[in-house]
Amino acid sequence: MRGHELETALQTLRTEHAVAKAASVEKESQFNLLNDALVDATMALTKQEAFSATIQEQLEEAVEVAKFERREKKLYLNVIQELRGDFRVFCRVRPDPKECVLLFPSEEGKREQSQIACPLAHREALVRRFQFDRVFTPEATQEDVFVDVEPMVMHTLDGGNVAIIAYGQTGSGKTHTMLGTDENPGVNRRAVKALLETCNATEGKTYALSVSLVEIYIDRVSDLLSDVPVEKQKSRAIVTHPVTKATTVSNLTERPVASVEDVVSALADGERVRKVADTSMNSSSSRSHLIVVVKVTSTDDMSGRTRTGKLTLVDLAGSERCYKSGVNGTHLTEANAINKSLASLGQVFQSIRSKAKHVPYRNSKLTHLLQDSLGGRGLACLFVTLSPSKDNVQETLGTLAFGMTVRSTSKGPAAEMKREDVEEAGNQQRRSGSSTGGGAAAAAAAAEAGGGCSGGAAIAAADL
Ligand SMILES: Nc1ncnc2c1ncn2[C@@H]1O[C@H](COP(=O)(O)OP(=O)(O)OP(=O)(O)O)[C@@H](O)[C@H]1O
Ligand SMILES: [Mg+2]
Repeated sequence: MRGHELETALQTLRTEHAVAKAASVEKESQFNLLNDALVDATMALTKQEAFSATIQEQLEEAVEVAKFERREKKLYLNVIQELRGDFRVFCRVRPDPKECVLLFPSEEGKREQSQIACPLAHREALVRRFQFDRVFTPEATQEDVFVDVEPMVMHTLDGGNVAIIAYGQTGSGKTHTMLGTDENPGVNRRAVKALLETCNATEGKTYALSVSLVEIYIDRVSDLLSDVPVEKQKSRAIVTHPVTKATTVSNLTERPVASVEDVVSALADGERVRKVADTSMNSSSSRSHLIVVVKVTSTDDMSGRTRTGKLTLVDLAGSERCYKSGVNGTHLTEANAINKSLASLGQVFQSIRSKAKHVPYRNSKLTHLLQDSLGGRGLACLFVTLSPSKDNVQETLGTLAFGMTVRSTSKGPAAEMKREDVEEAGNQQRRSGSSTGGGAAAAAAAAEAGGGCSGGAAIAAADL
């Protein structure tokens, strides 16, 4: 090979080498990029795995907490079951922007309030104290109220019969407590919501819920969800099942519900046909008893065994006296019928409490329908609702007396004390800054002024 040919070959080789080197540098840089991406992906994967592990841990923790809460609830229910036959009585005072003549004593250092004091109608210088399972002041929210009844509501999931009843004079907050408003629902909607939530979260059982609406107007029983208009319905009979002793309304419509919306729609349908009459005290006064019956049937997925529990939610008609609500004619007949059925309710509670051989359930349609919740293996809770105004003191004392007749654990007579002592003690508390509210503070000291806590025996309204 000649010299210039060698030169050309060498040149070609040099060029090829340079191209190969450039390609190699590019490959290396691509390799480095890929390597970086791989490192990033590995780190992301590690992070993802750690995140998944944390989520898994949190999930397991949540499951444990849920199990624990369910166990706790069960324990609580067991305690309640042991108290069967012991009626819970809660007192709720509605707010009034003008005044509150009621006082709320509380044990020193004890947050939960269970006492209320009311001035005597004709001796205003004196107040009388009453003790309930719980007293809700005007500031109490719908949620506060529901917390105390929720364990009882849950008892229906175990096949129990539970009744929650609101009693009080017109305008004192019975419907507010039981039904409430769309924005601020009461016990009814909260109860069904809680039941549905628990049913959906429970494994191994299938639940079916239904709602019925019953109206008792002048001792006439109507099915508010029936296709037949109320005015065309004959008064329905109250029937007792011969074996289970369950009490119900004959041919009662049971509307299946799967959501709170279903319940709201059923309540709205019922409300449309409900009789509402005006009185001089409250322009939307409900003159009939409204009873919401929630039936819960559970089926065990393994054994196929079924159980039925019943929650009866009762919004009673107002308990005010006839002269004050300015009633006459039809309204007087209504008022008399209301008073009669409320008196029957009081007699039933009293008979059960005194362990009488005969309990007069059948004296009224209302008590007959409630028989399987008030007696036997049932659980019942009564809300006595109160107006805090001076004008209503007489009715308030009557309502408090009714509540005391229902309360099964009587420890002694209701205590009377001088109002001025109560108020002075309250002022002292307010001055020392330890008060959260006038009434509550006054009453905290009043508990001392009264010389110990009054358990409260049944007091006839006439005594007040
Ligand atoms: N705790 C409360 N908080 C706020 N508002 C209340 C409360 N209780 C009652 N009210 C209001 O007072 C008014 C009368 O209450 P409600 O209709 O519940 O009385 P009621 O006892 O059902 O009367 P009736 O016997 O006439 O049916 C309503 O406007 C209601 O919203
Ligand atoms: Mg009402």
